Amino acid sequence: LASAPPLALADKYFQLRPDELNPLWGNPCDDIRHRRIWSKSKWCGTLPKVLVIGPQKTGSTALYTFLAMHPALSPNLPSPTTYEELQFFNNNNYLKGLDWYLNFFPPSLGNNTQMTFEKSATYFDGELVPRRAHALLPNAKVIVILISPSKRAYSWYQHIRSHGDPVANNYTFHTVITANDSAPKPLKDLRNRCLNPGKYSHYLERWLAEFSSHQLHIIDGSLLRSEPAAVMNTLQKFLKIPHIDYNKLLKFDPKKGFFCQAVSNEKTKCLGKSKGRVYPPMSELSAKFLKKYYTPHNTALSKILVRLGRPVPQWLKDELSSNG
Ligand code: A3P
Repeated sequence: LASAPPLALADKYFQLRPDELNPLWGNPCDDIRHRRIWSKSKWCGTLPKVLVIGPQKTGSTALYTFLAMHPALSPNLPSPTTYEELQFFNNNNYLKGLDWYLNFFPPSLGNNTQMTFEKSATYFDGELVPRRAHALLPNAKVIVILISPSKRAYSWYQHIRSHGDPVANNYTFHTVITANDSAPKPLKDLRNRCLNPGKYSHYLERWLAEFSSHQLHIIDGSLLRSEPAAVMNTLQKFLKIPHIDYNKLLKFDPKKGFFCQAVSNEKTKCLGKSKGRVYPPMSELSAKFLKKYYTPHNTALSKILVRLGRPVPQWLKDELSSNG
């Protein structure tokens, strides 16, 4: 009986099982055999119980900030490389492994009674994310936040423009969203990145293929903007955490034009300049184009919400109305 050296053996193994080249991390603490061979100094108790998955530009930072104010919840430590978001499940950070992820959830994070949570707004439309997230966190509660996909696309365009994206700075919003398949590749790529995340029904179905609908909470982002305390109230019930009154924690700041953290009777602490940007309203032509573009996706979203017994947001009713 002979065997090849370990590296040659590994090469052979992956030739036979190419599908296993991409890892899928499970929770080592869920399997006694894995736990036994894992280092004694490792832990899994602080892995997140709640994931806020976005998509981008829907109010996910406001939601994250409001959640972090709750005494029963504790966010991950910030990442020095990806702004405050870890973006573990959707990009190459995943290949850095569980140790990397756990660095942001050390045993000292929060106190014993707090639930840990993570927010990465790019999780929503990441192709591999639902499967990867479910493999590691099968019991997690997943929070989605949705606004009108047309508004989301416009906000995203403004966002990357202000980050100096050369393509966005070269083309108007209308040119980006109406680019056809014969347009230059950078323009088509930008169009896709701008429009695709707004096809909410497609991505929601992918999450629902992995997570039970009871684990999924859908927030109306425009309601979070206008009535954050009411939205946070419902969310606390979903998370089964003690009720705190967000009316006392948040205050509308007329200068910012948004609800902010109430610091004292007069003072508020608002999100930074990049949240709640000031830009001209979308042209009627673009609004009309997008309304039509998103109609099949919005119709499918409405059907999902009805199927799940969830409320249909006013913005969705407006987008689906013939004259709205
Ligand atoms: P705009 O800057 O285009 O207005 P995200 O955090 O997911 O990137 O979303 C950013 C959007 O959150 C902002 O888009 C803003 O409209 C919205 N938002 C909702 N509530 C907010 C709040 N309390 N403070 C600031 N922005 C808020």
